[in-house]
Amino acid sequence: MSVTVIVGAQWGDEGKGKIVDFCAKDADVVVRYAGGANAGHTLVNDGAKHVFHLLPSGALHPKARIFLAHGTVIDMDVLLREITLLETTTQFQRSRLLISDRAHVVLPHHKVVDEVRDQGTDAIGTTRRGIGPAYEDKIARRGVRVRDTLNPEHLRTLLVRNISAWEPLLRSAGRALPDIEDLLALCLEQGAELRPHIGDTSRALFEAVSGGQRILLEGAQGTLLDIDCGTYPYVTSSSTTAGGACTGTGLGPTFIERVIGITKAYTTRVGAGPFPTELFGMEGESLRESGDEYGATTGRARRCGWLDLPALRYAIQVNGITDLALTKLDVLSGLKEIPICVSYELEGERIAHLPCESLDSVKPIYEVLPGWDEDITHCRALEQLPSQARDYIAFIQERVGCEFASISVGPDRAQSIVLKGAFR
Ligand code: GDP
Ligand code: IMO
Ligand code: MG
Repeated sequence: MSVTVIVGAQWGDEGKGKIVDFCAKDADVVVRYAGGANAGHTLVNDGAKHVFHLLPSGALHPKARIFLAHGTVIDMDVLLREITLLETTTQFQRSRLLISDRAHVVLPHHKVVDEVRDQGTDAIGTTRRGIGPAYEDKIARRGVRVRDTLNPEHLRTLLVRNISAWEPLLRSAGRALPDIEDLLALCLEQGAELRPHIGDTSRALFEAVSGGQRILLEGAQGTLLDIDCGTYPYVTSSSTTAGGACTGTGLGPTFIERVIGITKAYTTRVGAGPFPTELFGMEGESLRESGDEYGATTGRARRCGWLDLPALRYAIQVNGITDLALTKLDVLSGLKEIPICVSYELEGERIAHLPCESLDSVKPIYEVLPGWDEDITHCRALEQLPSQARDYIAFIQERVGCEFASISVGPDRAQSIVLKGAFR
């Protein structure tokens, strides 16, 4: 049995795409288990950059099968465009893809609702990809699933019901209602194109595990964006944590052997919500420029700050992280000193844990480590790193009680220091 989950340990954009792509060379199946086209996973291979929103980040490897499991919500238009782009620019063949027939479909009006609602001072700053409304429909049991796009009569009934649920909101916002015939035709056309790749991913996964295959379950977003464990309401609408890998794929928890949590060497966040170690002004700007911190999905500038160890310990706890992967260590090169948040002050008391409901009231307490000047992007072994960088790594490991399986020193697949493989 060899199932490894890869999760974001922060607020997303930790470099999951790079690490999944790197680990996928040893995998037989790579599976996306949650979220939708709100994700932007960037892979750089020999200088060539690919951004995946829906396809699992194992797609560049010629052998691994790639699954979109039932925990995802699928914008079929984005998926078809992503498949076509990959087929025209790489050796990718869609025959390796299996899409869950039970995954829910993101309909065009979900994106309109997302945009219309997420306005004003309470705005979450969503990606506008229709994720919230699609999951709302799923939970309200009025969603359209991938399998429904293969059955015209049933699909018509579901679409009529679905549109009527959103009608009051769309009307009050002065937005046009979707034309049922157009929407029906679009969904049927997309369903027909994807038909050969639609099936039962849960059963296929169970068979793969039973046959001794190696499975990589790829998380999207990050721990603190999880609908239950995150900084609610400033979260996404899915279970992004390792528990979501079970519900989102249908593989029970005892199948999972390892959980790799990805953390940047600092922290970023896109959209609104608490962020204790956030840097403002020149300091934040400088980290953003060094790390090229602009969203892969929306192009928005990411908020930047120092590494937050209480938040990382929380991620280790709620995901059951067995190994960490550090990314973007190279971005810190050139800093004289690197502050690292080791605990918080809350109402005059020093606390070491992350208080979910009062995160916007905490004051970070920092320890300051010496920085290094050297460019480390060519380093391929720990010993090649400057001693201050090794000390930074050791400090984190010691303070969170979990070891790194890899250290990433650049965006390219090759720019990695691997200490432990993805599978046992
Ligand atoms: P994801 O959503 O977690 O897959 O992360 P994103 O792809 O949205 O953002 C991570 C960004 O950092 C991407 O542009 C990656 O190419 C880049 N990246 C990943 N690892 C490293 C690294 O170690 N160093 C540098 N400089 N960039 C990295
Ligand atoms: P990857 O997989 C960073 C954030 C949005 C917003 C909140 C809700 O690339 O790490 P949503 O559109 O999901 O309803 O938005 O979640 N968000 C992400 N932030 N990386 C992501 O994905 C994100 N996906 C959603 O900015 O704050
Ligand atoms: Mg991203």
